[in-house]
Amino acid sequence: MLRSPRRSVSKYWGMDKMFGSMASVLLVGLGGLVLYRLLQRLRQKACLQDAVVVITGASSGLGKECARVFHAAGAKLILCGRNRNLLQELVEELGAVADSKHKTYTASIVTFDLSKVEEVAQAAEDILKCHGYVDVLINNAGISFRGNILNTHIDVHKEVMEINYFGPIALTQAILPSMVQRQRGQVVVISSIQGKISIPFRSAYAASKHATQAYFDCLRAELEQYGIKVSVLSPGYIRTSLSLNAVTGNGSKYGVLDRNTAEGRDPWEVAGAVLEATERRRKDAMMAGAIPCLAVYIRTLWPSLFFRLMAGRARKEHKAKDQ
Ligand SMILES: NC(=O)c1ccc[n+]([C@@H]2O[C@H](COP(=O)([O-])OP(=O)(O)OC[C@H]3O[C@@H](n4cnc5c(N)ncnc54)[C@H](OP(=O)(O)O)[C@@H]3O)[C@@H](O)[C@H]2O)c1
Repeated sequence: MLRSPRRSVSKYWGMDKMFGSMASVLLVGLGGLVLYRLLQRLRQKACLQDAVVVITGASSGLGKECARVFHAAGAKLILCGRNRNLLQELVEELGAVADSKHKTYTASIVTFDLSKVEEVAQAAEDILKCHGYVDVLINNAGISFRGNILNTHIDVHKEVMEINYFGPIALTQAILPSMVQRQRGQVVVISSIQGKISIPFRSAYAASKHATQAYFDCLRAELEQYGIKVSVLSPGYIRTSLSLNAVTGNGSKYGVLDRNTAEGRDPWEVAGAVLEATERRRKDAMMAGAIPCLAVYIRTLWPSLFFRLMAGRARKEHKAKDQ
């Protein structure tokens, strides 16, 4: 039986209307979702203007760049390191920078050695005396390690753990009671992709960063009820003096700028990412290229492949050293 053309036209017209209204509902829904996410992100964004921010390892590399970007964002900085002269130079440099967008402040300095527990306790007191409280503690200071495990003295493992792990956790624990009392604050940790995967000939460093990741993951969960946020940030290679300052298996300075480090990301760019992650209160962020991030997933999802790749890398480096 033939359908009348009028009936089929009205049927198509009806379907058109139905699809049209479905599309509008979908569009309104999507628009609402985007708006909700936007408002949520704006609400989550911490304002760093006037915030008291402590940066350890501010005398060079990433810490120094973080000092520049957090200063420009209007933070009241407390800069830490062992070298007072370098920190003083930085304070003067920051003082000479005028930012029209934000009110800026003269930074304070607290010097101490992270490997000396008694100095860390005193430093925490001095830090709290500066403004009476801390809004953001950025545990950035650290050293790296280059060496073969077979030739590495146990004292070197201990030294790297003291600076990269025990020092930062001692400082954090000394600052935390005041954050808990105020029911606010944020602890930011500069870990490394090597806190998630271990690369041969970096044992002490990778172990210290794995310990860091584990400790601050526990801390995040334990502090949630007090409104205190914990951000573990894991960069890949950054163009700094990290490899130059690294220790070797016998405790001497490595003193070489590795190719990977020399070709790493600009510290200023990474400092910008640290600022953003701090403002967004990111819980955990990898700040590296596609290959290191992929390696982290391979380590989790296909460990046997990861182990094979790392053994190959170790063989290649052994061969290169023997030549
Ligand atoms: N560069 C990279 O490729 C890379 C990649 C991933 C993660 N990271 C991480 O980024 C952070 C910053 O390193 P960077 O690359 O900027 O290296 P860097 O240029 O060598 O800076 C290291 C900073 O740590 C401080 N420091 C070292 N030993 C210390 C100690 N015993 N007590 C107190 N402060 C100490 C140094 O200050 P003083 O010497 O003045 O004390 C210096 O300011 C480290 O945690 C590192 O693990 C770096």
